[in-house]
Parts: sequence; C-alpha cells; structure tokens
Amino acid sequence: MGELPVRPRRLRSSPAMRRLVTDVRVHPGDLVLPVFVREGLTEPVPVRTLPGVVQHTRETLVATAREAVAAGLGGIMLFGVPVARDAVGSGADDPDGILNVALRDVRDAVGDDLVVMADLCLDEFTDHGHCGVLNDHGRVDNDATLERYASMALAQARAGAHLLGPSGMMDGQVGHLRAVLDRAGRDDVGLLAYAVKYASAFYGPFREAVDSQLTGDRRTYQQDPAASVTEALREVRLDLDEGADLVMVKPGLPYLDVLRAVAEVADVPVAAYQVSGEYAMVEFAAAAGAIDRERVAMESLVALRRAGAQVLLTYWALEAAQHWL
Ligand code: PBG
Repeated sequence: MGELPVRPRRLRSSPAMRRLVTDVRVHPGDLVLPVFVREGLTEPVPVRTLPGVVQHTRETLVATAREAVAAGLGGIMLFGVPVARDAVGSGADDPDGILNVALRDVRDAVGDDLVVMADLCLDEFTDHGHCGVLNDHGRVDNDATLERYASMALAQARAGAHLLGPSGMMDGQVGHLRAVLDRAGRDDVGLLAYAVKYASAFYGPFREAVDSQLTGDRRTYQQDPAASVTEALREVRLDLDEGADLVMVKPGLPYLDVLRAVAEVADVPVAAYQVSGEYAMVEFAAAAGAIDRERVAMESLVALRRAGAQVLLTYWALEAAQHWL
C-alpha cells in the first residue's frame, strides 16, 4: 500500500466527529403529525393497516395535540371521518361537521403553540369517495368542486385552522381559495398546497384510516407516477403563482427526485408527506423482524430532509420528537 493522504474515514471515526460534520438534521419543529378524528367515537379505534395509528375521539385528539405541543412539534394535520356521507360532501363545510368541530377543539387547546392544519378535500365526506363533486357523466367536475372547497375553506378558517391543506389536485384550487379567503377578510390563513401529488398506491392504508368509500381511482386529477418531473415543476409554478405559502410533494420516499427538483425552484418552504404506505411498509417489515424499525424510520426522515424538504408530515412525528431526536 502506498501513501494515502486522503482518507474520508477520518471524519467518521467517532460519534462526536460524525456529529460535527453532519449536514442534515431532523428537528421536532420540522415535523407535522397527521391525525384522524372520527365522529361519534367514545374510544379510539386502532387502524389495522397503520400499526400505532388510531382514529381519535374528540377527547383523545385534544390530548394528542397537547402532547404534540409538549414534544415541540411543528404542527398537526387533521383528517375527519364523518358518520354520514353524501354526494357533495355536506359534512365538510358544516360548522358542526366532525373536522370543523375537531379543529375548534384543537385550536382552543393549543392556541398558537402548534400550527393547526386541516386537510381540505372532499373525499372523506362524499359517498362516492372522490375528492370532488361529480358531473352527470360521473367525472369529477373541477370548477363545481372549487366552489365546495371555497365553502370548506371558510368553515375551516372560522374553526381556527392556521394552514389549510388543499389536497384534491383540482386545477386552480390554490388561487380560488386564496381569493375567497382574502375576500372574507381571512388573509391571516395560509395555504399548504399539495402542489405535487401522485395517484399513488402508497395511500392504501390511509383508505382504511378514513373509511374511504372510493371504488375507482383518482387518475383524472392526481398525477401519473410515470409523468416527467417537468409536470411536477409546472404544478409547483402554478401554485406559487396562485399564492401558495408552502408547497408539498407527496408521497415522499419514492419521489425524492421530484422533491429535490421542487426544492431547487421553490422560493417558499417545501414539505414532504411520508404517506401511509411508506409508514406501513416499515412497521410491518419491522414487526416481521426484517428491519430495525427506529433506524429505518429515522433514515427515511433524514432522506426526505436531505432531498430538500424543510417540513415533514409523518405518522412517526410524535414518537420521533419524544424518543428518537
Ligand atoms: C386526500 C388525501 C389522501 C391522503 C392525504 N390526503 C388520500 C388520497 O389522495 O387518495 C393520503 C395520505 C396517506 O396515505 O397517508 N384527502
């Protein structure tokens, strides 16, 4: 062996050395916990496809929100599971609908100590399970859906949400919501745009979490996983032009290339949603003894940060903040 002046291993020689030179850190304040609250529950119900995740009662949701504050989380994202559904998703903009009631509960409990976010989409509230209302041909009607989203946005703003998360991938949704909120004097409420959202099979376990009624698929509005990154950048540009305060890429790990490309062009914070299927794969593989649950979970969060996400939505948010960080 000759001389070897360059030895990268020197910087890996001890935990202190590695800590000194590390670049990517995950902080509790980066993390957002997605939560499900189901109408009419007296006890939380475990979600079979998402080990460790439950459908909350109003009470356990509030307790979880307080835990999130204590753990220093950045935010909480609420999904509502109503008892009754109809064609237009009436429960979504009803002030007494489960999502709006739960938003009020959580906001009352946490004030401004946690960023309170709401999923803004009709799929949990419609009897056909689509993210919008249908026209006579059974297709999702873009512009009619925007009117429903507008009404939902006002209800969520009144219920105390700091950030609304339009996730339905309707054209023009960000601009429309921005205008409606501003006209109502709610320029204080921000938009976390699901700017890039794929028609992904990784959402599988989520369907059980919200008792989804969907029979078909969402390919006429969510993006094709095989589409070019250029399309993703176009969606981001549109949402930025329309006034998005943050842009999100979803799912996370299978789309790190897209996340990186978005992070390079966006001049607002970029979020990544580590979706239900990503979480479930790790949980079930770990339960089978195939992988180290905590290390794989943390590695996946670091990967999302390294690819360019400042904000991470993950079902591990609370556990990561309390035990792993
Ligand atoms: C739509 C919505 C979905 C998810 C978040 N918002 C489902 C879908 O688009 O089909 C999925 C989240 C996850 O899988 O963790 N309201």
